[in-house]
Amino acid sequence: MGVEKNGLKEYTMEEVSKHKSPPSIWSVYKGFVYDIIMYMDYHLGGSIINKVAGKDMTMLYNKFHAYVNIDKFIGAFKIDYIKKAGISPPSLNPNNIPIPYKP
Ligand code: HEM
Repeated sequence: MGVEKNGLKEYTMEEVSKHKSPPSIWSVYKGFVYDIIMYMDYHLGGSIINKVAGKDMTMLYNKFHAYVNIDKFIGAFKIDYIKKAGISPPSLNPNNIPIPYKP
């Protein structure tokens, strides 16, 4: 489980990567961790969303619909935030370009 800090929990990508199948499917967007399991069946883009289970979805999310306000859809499932250092796993960010965000 995450480390408590100022009332918020801080997770590492390693912890996130353990939640990639039911009962909890976590994914990270701009530094925040969401449990997306309740939303997956409702996703208008279909099952492509399965790709980001246990991973950082920021780049893929922005590629398809940066204009979609994520918190309107899954704000209730925001768990907490990710340690900055672990924000972009190499699989989704081959050039190792830092993704700017403000938690
Ligand atoms: C959990 C976070 C996500 C939310 C809340 C979300 C929400 C949405 C919404 C509202 C739409 C419809 C957009 C529209 O009709 O204009 C959509 C479509 C789509 N989404 Fe997502 N999405 C999420 C994650 C993702 C991820 C991670 C991917 C890619 C791996 C993805 C790929 C797509 C695609 C391909 C479409 C169809 C785009 C189109 O119709 O042109 N989404 N999503």
